[in-house]
Amino acid sequence: MTMPDILVSENISGGEMDSLKRAFEVAFEPELWKSPQKLLSMIGSCKALIVRNQTQVNAELIAAAKRLLVIGRAGVGLDNVDAKAASAAGIVVSFAPEQNSVSVAELTIGLILTLARDIAAADRSVKAGKWERQRFVGTELHGKTLGIVGLGRIGFLTAMRARAFGLDILAHDNYINPDAFTVTECRARLVGLNELLQKSDFVSCHTPETPATIGLFNYDLFSQMKPTAFFVNAARGKVVDEAGLIRALKEKKIAGAALDVRAQEPPARDELMEMDNVVLMPHVAAFTKEAQQRVVTCVCKDVAAVLNGQPARNFFNFPSPKRA
Ligand code: MLT
Repeated sequence: MTMPDILVSENISGGEMDSLKRAFEVAFEPELWKSPQKLLSMIGSCKALIVRNQTQVNAELIAAAKRLLVIGRAGVGLDNVDAKAASAAGIVVSFAPEQNSVSVAELTIGLILTLARDIAAADRSVKAGKWERQRFVGTELHGKTLGIVGLGRIGFLTAMRARAFGLDILAHDNYINPDAFTVTECRARLVGLNELLQKSDFVSCHTPETPATIGLFNYDLFSQMKPTAFFVNAARGKVVDEAGLIRALKEKKIAGAALDVRAQEPPARDELMEMDNVVLMPHVAAFTKEAQQRVVTCVCKDVAAVLNGQPARNFFNFPSPKRA
């Protein structure tokens, strides 16, 4: 058997992937992320690894990847890639930093509307043969306040779309200046997290998963929100302490929540799945045809470039490998 140049350990397809397959030896193993030991045994001969968010590209895997030149992450979050270990080994980490931002922002707005008008529960009710018009009196977005935690690309695009609905924007971001374009353009007011929680009618999380953000949204934070407010998370599941969220929902500290992402994916059955005021989706905010085409194209092009001795364009660490 020929040794593959490129190992693809998740389901990643599209025109640019087909081009890669024509130009290189590609081992396409969409279920491989489920078998870390098998992945470990295969990685030693590969020059490139392409993943989504399910393959754990940890220090052990990187240490075994003796010939690896580039890791292509088909998405923006790098929480499943030990980028520090990859950089120390001289391996390029390429990703798709903005190619799916519009899709995530659009879904976030969709979730805000779903919560405000109880769309998911109304759908279930009508399909159950009911016609409960008094039960489904919602709230308008117009004139309300959206609190955005993390005003990066997705937070910003969400804020711009929210503006069109007449929402005022509060934002909290430790890494941004009040005169930054993203703040002024959407006329956000940068505030402390406590003020944002206390004043917002909708709170939307757009932070990456880092040691500082894991468990950030806990019971104490939810308790600071208005009892009429809704929480939305289409960023990373581990940023929410789910036990704290469940407690806050049960105690009616907040009115409801919409989660596209979970601390464990797929999640085990839990109380969130039984709550009518909770909307759950299977981590699909970035999964639109358009975003996926852009993401896969960008990552496959970078992998091809590196394997052809050219620099990557969307690199997290450096454009060319620092190993032979
Ligand atoms: C991303 O990080 O790009 C999205 O959450 C989708 C994914 O994880 O692949």
